[in-house]
Amino acid sequence: MRAFEFHNPTRLIFGQGKLEVLTREIPKYGKRVLLVYGGGSIKRSGLYEEVIGFLKQAEVEITELAGVEPNPRLATVHKGVELCKQHDIDFILAVGGGSVLDCTKAIAVGAKYDGDMWDFVERKAVPTAALPYGTVLTMAATGSEMNSGSVITNEATQEKLGWGSPLVYPAFSILDPTYTFSLPRDQTVYGMVDMMSHVLEHYFHLDTNTPVQLGWCETILRAVIEAAPKLVDDLDNYELRETVMFCGTMALNGFLNMGLAGDWATHNIEHAVSAVYDIPHGGGLAILFPNWMKHNIDVKPERFARMAVQVFNVNAEGKSERQVAEEGIEALRSFWSSIGAPSRLADYDITDKDIELMADKAMRFGPFGNFKKLQREDVVSIYQASL
Ligand code: NZQ
Ligand code: ZN
Repeated sequence: MRAFEFHNPTRLIFGQGKLEVLTREIPKYGKRVLLVYGGGSIKRSGLYEEVIGFLKQAEVEITELAGVEPNPRLATVHKGVELCKQHDIDFILAVGGGSVLDCTKAIAVGAKYDGDMWDFVERKAVPTAALPYGTVLTMAATGSEMNSGSVITNEATQEKLGWGSPLVYPAFSILDPTYTFSLPRDQTVYGMVDMMSHVLEHYFHLDTNTPVQLGWCETILRAVIEAAPKLVDDLDNYELRETVMFCGTMALNGFLNMGLAGDWATHNIEHAVSAVYDIPHGGGLAILFPNWMKHNIDVKPERFARMAVQVFNVNAEGKSERQVAEEGIEALRSFWSSIGAPSRLADYDITDKDIELMADKAMRFGPFGNFKKLQREDVVSIYQASL
C-alpha cells in the first residue's frame, strides 16, 4: 500500500423517509437557500413538492435554479453563481442526479470567486473557498453525493473536464432509495455501468499488498451484478434500489482507493467522447471499458484473470492465465449487453470521423492513466476497437 490520509466529511443520511432532516440540517448554515435541480424529473415524481414543504418548515428563503442539463454546462454554472451573488445565498441544496450535484459543486466555488469558475477546471487557479451545500440524490451512479469531484462541459470549446477540491464535499447527502424508483430503465443501467466502472478504475492498480481493497471491489461488483438483471425488470423494488444506491456511493467516496492509485484512463477517454457527442456517461463507459482492458491485458494479466474468477465465476481449470483473463473481459461485456447497455460507438451513430478530435481532447493534459500511461496512439487504438 502507499501512504495515505483519509478524510471524508460528508454526513451520509441513508434510508426511506429521511427527507425531513432538511429541517434540522439546513438552518445550521443560514437563511437564504439556492435550490438546484434538473430538467423536471423531480416535479413529475413529487419530490419537488416534498422538498419545498420541508424548506418552508425550516423557514428559509428559497431561490431556484432549474434546468441543469445531463452533462452540466458551464453556462448553467454561471447562472447559478449569479443567483448566489445576487441573493446573497448562504447554502445550496442540490436535488437530482450526478449532473445536478456536479453543477452545484461548481456553483459553490464560483460564488466565492471573482474570476470565471472555469479557471479551476483548467487548473489556472485553485479554489480557496466554497459555499456549503447538501444533496438529495435521485440517481445511483456517480458517487458525487459523497466525493469532491465534478465534471463540467464547456459548450463553447466542446470540452468536458473533471476537476475537484476538498472544499466541495457535500455537507450532507440524503439517499432515499424510493426517490430512484422513477428513474427509467436505460438511466438505471447507465448508473450501474458507471458505478461498476468506478470500482474497476480502482481495481486495476499497480500498488502492492491491497488484499482488502481488492476484496471490497469484488464484493461491490458482485452485488451490482446480482441486483442488476432483477432491477431492470422490477424498477420499484426497494431492496434492489437500496443495494444499488449503496454500491454507487461506496464505489467512489474514497474508501476503495485508500492506499492505492486507481487508473482513471477510461473515464478520461469517455469524457472526450461525451464532450463531442453528448452521450450518457455510463453508455460511453460500457463501450470503452472492455476495449481499454483488451488493450492493457499484458500489463498485469493476473489481475484480469482474478476478476474473471472472483467476479464472473469463470472456470480456470486447464486454461492459461491469459485465456481466463480474456474470458473475464468477455463476461463483463456480455453482462453489460444483457442488461441493455450499448457495446459499440456505432450504437450512438459515432463513426471514425471524429476519432482524432476526441483523441486531442483526451490528451488535453498529456499522457494519462496509472495502470498504463496511455499515449495518443493508445487512445486512438481504443477508439478504433470501439467503433
Ligand atoms: O434532469 P432531470 O429531469 O432530473 O432528469 C435526469 C437526467 O435526464 C434523469 N433523472 C435523474 N434522477 C431521476 C431521473 N429521472 C427520473 N427519475 C429520477 N429519480 O436522469 C438523467 C441523467 O441524470 P444525470 O444527473 O445526468 O446522470 P448521472 O447521475 O449519471 O450524472 C452524470 C454526470 O456525472 C458525471 C458524468 O460525466 C456526467 O456529466 N460524473 C461525475 C462524477 C463525480 N462527480 O464524481 C464521476 C462520474 O464518473 C461522472 O463522470
Ligand atoms: Zn463515472
